[in-house]
Amino acid sequence: MKLNDKTIAIIGGGNLGMAIAQGLSAAGLLQHNKLIITRRKWPEQAVPPQLQAQATLSTDNRQAVAAADIVLLCVQPQQLADVLAGAGQALGGKTIVSTLTGVTLAQLHAQIPAAGLIVRAMPNTALAVRMSMTCLSSRAERAQLAAIEEIFAALGKTIVIDDDLMQAATVLAASGIAFWLRLIRATTQGGIQLGFDAPEAQQIAVQTCLGAASLLQDNNGSHPEPEIDKVTTPRGCTIEGLNEMEHQGLSSALIKGLVASYQKINEI
Ligand SMILES: NC(=O)c1ccc[n+]([C@@H]2O[C@H](COP(=O)([O-])OP(=O)(O)OC[C@H]3O[C@@H](n4cnc5c(N)ncnc54)[C@H](OP(=O)(O)O)[C@@H]3O)[C@@H](O)[C@H]2O)c1
Repeated sequence: MKLNDKTIAIIGGGNLGMAIAQGLSAAGLLQHNKLIITRRKWPEQAVPPQLQAQATLSTDNRQAVAAADIVLLCVQPQQLADVLAGAGQALGGKTIVSTLTGVTLAQLHAQIPAAGLIVRAMPNTALAVRMSMTCLSSRAERAQLAAIEEIFAALGKTIVIDDDLMQAATVLAASGIAFWLRLIRATTQGGIQLGFDAPEAQQIAVQTCLGAASLLQDNNGSHPEPEIDKVTTPRGCTIEGLNEMEHQGLSSALIKGLVASYQKINEI
């Protein structure tokens, strides 16, 4: 299924739902596709003016689902049962995309047996700047996911993974936003101690972070270590600092933190 001319319903116009809507608008996808967004109550400031012109806002899930080809579920996991009960038979035959953390494909198939296609999507908040890393899983053939990959490719990068890895993806990609932001904040604070004012230090930290990531991304899968070797002169300041960070447990702390998050998500 291609995305062109499809009607998309976002059920749950909260943080994630509205970030997806804004990303679709910014990517120009709403020129060829209709968008309906629902929530139970629409506070006035919830919708940016541009979206008011491009999307239909509704409080009626059943009607929105009935009109849609693709239904994006963006409510909290504990709100899913209400949504499914409200939409009822309208879900039959539809393409359903669930962003709900921790709700497995098996659970979704059990709860929406009449769905045409079910896809799980785990994006992160960088959707807002169309730089999300979105992990997708589905029981369907890859070719059937084309329209869904098109939606999330417009909002960043996508990867199709086993559903068993979705909890790990949540930690690495969705929680990962917080981990990387803390690293940027810490290097900014270091820069302030070395003499920069806060805005300058943050600008340097952010651009350096983007540069390091781009060295790997744009060099077609280059590995971090050769890039590190290029900047670590023997007896120089970089290796001195890097080894001190490792003596203090930098890599170990990051790996242990990821594993702790993963253990926690599996308990929730
Ligand atoms: N934020 C992230 O980084 C992230 C990343 C990946 C996945 N997720 C997942 O995305 C989902 C949404 O997260 P969020 O941060 O966007 O939550 P949120 O801001 O609380 O948004 C949920 C929205 O759903 C609406 N809603 C609740 N019940 C509804 C119903 N019966 N019908 C229609 N709308 C309803 C709520 O509005 P009303 O109360 O007005 O109805 C609210 O606007 C969660 O399941 C989360 O696990 C989030």
